[in-house]
Amino acid sequence: MTIEYSDASKIFHLQTKHTSYVFHVLENGELGQIYYGTKIHAKDNYSNLTTRELKDATVAWKIDKPDFQPDILKFEYSALGSGDFRFPAFQLTFNNGSRISEFKYASYEIKSGKRRLDGLPATFGFADDGSQTLIITLRDETVGVDLQLSYSVFPDQDVIVRSSKFINHGTERVVIDHAFSSELDLPDSNYDLIEFPGAWARERHFTRSKLKPGYQGAGSLRTASSHQANPFMMLARPDTGENSGEVFGFNLVYSGNFLDQVEVDQFDGSRVLIGINPNEFSWNLTPGETFQTPEAVQTFSNQGINALSQQLADFYQQHLVNQRYAHSTRPILVNNWEATYFNFNENKLMEIVKTAKSVGIEMFVLDDGWFGERNDDTTSLGDWFVDKSKFPNGIGHFANQVHELGMKLGVWFEPEMISKQSQLYGEHPDWMIQTPGRHQTPGRNQFVLDMSRPEVVDYLVDSISKIIDETQLDYIKWDMNRYITEMYGQKLAANQQLEMGHRYILGVYDLYERLTKAHPEVLFESCASGGGRFDLGMMYYAPQAWTSDDTDAVERMKIQHGTSYGYSQSMMGAHVSAVPNDQTGRYTELNTRARVAYFGDFGYELDLTKMTDSELSEVRKQVEFYKKYREVFQFGKFYRLESPFNGNVTSWQVVSPDRDLAIVGRFQLLNIPNSPYLRIKFKGLDPDKQYRVNGSEEIFYGDELMNAGYFVPEILTNSKKQGLRTADFSSQLFIIKAV
Ligand code: DGJ
Repeated sequence: MTIEYSDASKIFHLQTKHTSYVFHVLENGELGQIYYGTKIHAKDNYSNLTTRELKDATVAWKIDKPDFQPDILKFEYSALGSGDFRFPAFQLTFNNGSRISEFKYASYEIKSGKRRLDGLPATFGFADDGSQTLIITLRDETVGVDLQLSYSVFPDQDVIVRSSKFINHGTERVVIDHAFSSELDLPDSNYDLIEFPGAWARERHFTRSKLKPGYQGAGSLRTASSHQANPFMMLARPDTGENSGEVFGFNLVYSGNFLDQVEVDQFDGSRVLIGINPNEFSWNLTPGETFQTPEAVQTFSNQGINALSQQLADFYQQHLVNQRYAHSTRPILVNNWEATYFNFNENKLMEIVKTAKSVGIEMFVLDDGWFGERNDDTTSLGDWFVDKSKFPNGIGHFANQVHELGMKLGVWFEPEMISKQSQLYGEHPDWMIQTPGRHQTPGRNQFVLDMSRPEVVDYLVDSISKIIDETQLDYIKWDMNRYITEMYGQKLAANQQLEMGHRYILGVYDLYERLTKAHPEVLFESCASGGGRFDLGMMYYAPQAWTSDDTDAVERMKIQHGTSYGYSQSMMGAHVSAVPNDQTGRYTELNTRARVAYFGDFGYELDLTKMTDSELSEVRKQVEFYKKYREVFQFGKFYRLESPFNGNVTSWQVVSPDRDLAIVGRFQLLNIPNSPYLRIKFKGLDPDKQYRVNGSEEIFYGDELMNAGYFVPEILTNSKKQGLRTADFSSQLFIIKAV
């Protein structure tokens, strides 16, 4: 049984293959958390785990119930104002200005499978995958509002997905001041918080710090999940490492303002709240209406952080990503952004396309600058019709030429944006988000469309669909290059203004939903100045994302390594660009640039026509190599062997499901002359299988390669002066094949 309920003790026990999640109905009708962690037997009674201690200077629910002290108890979805003084999971305000709610357990329902949500990206289950959903209804009789807590259990990946829903059956308007998607009250605080902060061109860097009393966590008020913070976080025991120990993982299927908060309380309990950021949010729930929070994903492993990443990667592939693309390999592309920026015409692009074709590249992506009169970033956003000075015969003509060569075609859009210098602004100046009478702050010379307005979404569906139809498009890169300022909804009432952030993102989802439904053959890649919206909300619609605008191989080691904790390789766009690198000015070898990019959705972001013959022949070999091993690079089990956050070397490994093939990439930063003797220990091999490494004559058992290790020779590169020598930023690949 995945979900068990004991009527006698009102205990719910949710089990996955390796975890248990246990909670019960408390005396006052609220739900109380009992346990989350390694699987334990289901019982009718956990009185030891629910033992209460009387604490001084603490309020109690009733005079004759002195041990029911809300500030000490562990809840499933806590409220403020009746004795629990920690940050609450939700807060409502009623018509008379009061803010006390009393949601009491009413009923439960268990359904097989997991249904998607309406209007929000969501996880899903299938009839035969063992997933089950528990929906618990709590009721506040005084105002006639129901609160439904939903728990979907995915046994194979040890994941539980949670969300909450408020339903107003009453007669008065209720304001939801905030509503998190999930809460987890852990009994102690002996954890390290692992988060992934960053900046543009430096996304998702790994940080680990001990929990401390009070509030901590990550959040965004940038109207996007953001470069600066990511909704994925972990809590790990201090001795937990990549390969052993207990760790919890949390993520949110949402792309707007979010908050992942951990509060360590006075008794060393830890309250984890995941959801829409309470700041800049509120929602008017009028009679008859419902409000559904986004979904929060929670998971646990006692096998270390790498195992947690692997179960999440598997979970996303089976239960989040568009199934049309989840299991199909992604095309190798060349994108013209860093090759030409805005300075191109059809002839120039066709040269790149033809060169790409000659080296085996499968798709050409036409980036920014093809529409309106866009020769720099000051104009034309919103004018989604082709610039005839660059494509005199129309974009359909260009698309035909690309397709006739047997290549796929992708096109860049930035749907949510508007330039003041555009036809669209001339026709609909009011479609731009602005606060009446206030300054308008530009970002990259552009402004943002009010995506909460259906007519804006309709316009975008029509204008983008026209281009898709005209070009028989295979792929869209959906960019979003600025955060919103002066947020205000011109069509919303004064008391609805704090709904705007969420309504905006619902409009974005609506556009994605309509475009992906109408054009299922188009593969979407999301992008937000690189990795500014690298989140599960986007991944639901667009199975891959441009990981970062930083294409420097060395920076990419940290960015891709950090990203890999919470997301899979097939979600990460990774391209080879020219040197010196445009973001860092750094020179790295072409083979190192490619080897770093192999561990994602591979492509090129440079002017192929400027490469020498010998470089092009190297590119041809890289493309051939990636095609041969693409399945394992994109979908294989991912192991982090050495971390760029710990030192000079990064190494990653991917392993095929049958463990017959593994590939390791090892990258060094600075060269160490006359370097020490070194063996690398591979992971995830079958201990009893026999392997060759890089076609070696010697045959190794998997147990030898994983325990004794494999000798790592110095990386030798051509040097004019000394013949072969070691070098900065050099790299190695180990191909491990079963005999
Ligand atoms: C930002 C993206 O991240 C880049 O790859 C490129 O598409 C530019 N925008 C185009 O304006």
